[in-house]
Amino acid sequence: MSLSLEPPAASTIAGVDVIQVHGGARLAGDVSVVGAKNSALKLMAAALLASGESVITNVPRITDIAIMAEVLRRLGCAVSYHEGDVTIETPAEPGTEADYDLVRQLRASICVLGPLLARRGYVRVAHPGGDAIGSRGLDMHVDGLARMGAEISGEHGFVIASAPRGLRGATIWLDFPSVGATENLLMAAVLARGETVIDNAAREPEIVDICAMLTSMGARIEGAGTSTLHIQGVDGLSPVRHATIGDRIVAGTWAFGAAMTRGDVTVSGVDAAWLEIALDKVVSAGGVVEPQPDGFRVRMDRRPTSVDVVTLPFPGFPTDLLPMAIGMAAVSEGASLITENIFDGRFMFVNEMARLGADIRTDGHHAVVQGRERLSSAPVAATDIRAGAGLVIAALCADGMTEVSRVYHIDRGYPGFVADLRRLGVKVERVEAPEAPTFTF
Ligand code: EPU
Repeated sequence: MSLSLEPPAASTIAGVDVIQVHGGARLAGDVSVVGAKNSALKLMAAALLASGESVITNVPRITDIAIMAEVLRRLGCAVSYHEGDVTIETPAEPGTEADYDLVRQLRASICVLGPLLARRGYVRVAHPGGDAIGSRGLDMHVDGLARMGAEISGEHGFVIASAPRGLRGATIWLDFPSVGATENLLMAAVLARGETVIDNAAREPEIVDICAMLTSMGARIEGAGTSTLHIQGVDGLSPVRHATIGDRIVAGTWAFGAAMTRGDVTVSGVDAAWLEIALDKVVSAGGVVEPQPDGFRVRMDRRPTSVDVVTLPFPGFPTDLLPMAIGMAAVSEGASLITENIFDGRFMFVNEMARLGADIRTDGHHAVVQGRERLSSAPVAATDIRAGAGLVIAALCADGMTEVSRVYHIDRGYPGFVADLRRLGVKVERVEAPEAPTFTF
């Protein structure tokens, strides 16, 4: 099957659908994960660095990828999707402007800043603003590019960067190992004059993946997966075919789901080493985790024991699995202290979790969760991608049927989520929400 990745007009995002999930479920069976959203989006941006046809394989069919495809199209690329392969034909002179109507839908579109500045010497990208999980600044992206010789200004809601004489290599120390800043600076540095050193760089597997793609395009990068990246700029890059790594966050979602429901799930398509700390938490809670050549198996035959969790940049516990950790804590024996260190708004969804009967108290970036035997079904709403998936997983431990609304958030990151839940034995439906009543007086 082939489909064009059309931009999702507001009315066609499946925003009116709800997921109805029946509690008392036990996740059991096999599930495979496809490519990581947070890798594929940046690999697509990296295709801007070389004229000609690049193909990214193992790309998930999710809303965010469709939006990124539209960002690239408006920059003059031809983009098509066929069974997990995204083909991007990049022109000799890609455009230089990414508008707010797309950037506001996909914060990750800021990652076209680095590659376009490197190729065109000028770029205007709408400022993405904040989103539902925190303020999410751009200072490290901007400061790093400025060190490489770019002049950066802000005007009418746009970040404008120019480097008419080209970018030059520089030594950049990041205040924090930001994933997005590391990627943007990396994509700028591969075509800069001379050597760039990015210190305190992010070490996520997705960074290693983009380094692998850039290297096969002809870039010279050393230190991928470590805190220091050395990049020797080259004169030009060639288009390539590159396979996206598996989605460790989707895989981790199934791991927590299995542990919470006293289930038995085998996940394939990822490297268990990318989830070492997360899987270790499942083991501390009483689960059995067996790494396998292409994934892992998680079994749990009793109520989980409470465990404390602290989110940190990779290889720490991923912030994107925080809702799942809170879900497990909510049904564990004892109290768990959950600390979030990456996004200041990540706890916004706990009010929804509380509707399911979870006993959660937050104070700043800490949450204390007192576990209870079972949760209680209720109508809840997803507030972001991971919160949405976390609510669905938590609902598996509730009595009765929980209706999760705003599932367009889940569609942004979990391809075939409902089908996978069914495969694992859950009674779950995706239905159109009834019309909201209107009141007049
Ligand atoms: N930050 C700054 N200044 C900067 C850059 C970042 O203050 O210049 C702050 C942010 O405000 C945030 C923290 O640093 O508080 C971490 O930001 P980072 O740049 O590391 O994250 P990101 O690139 O914006 C990516 C993922 C997120 C994931 C984080 C952390 C994508 C598209 N997004 O975001 O994924 O949580 O890394 O691992 O890759 C998700 O998939 O649901 C998601 C939110």
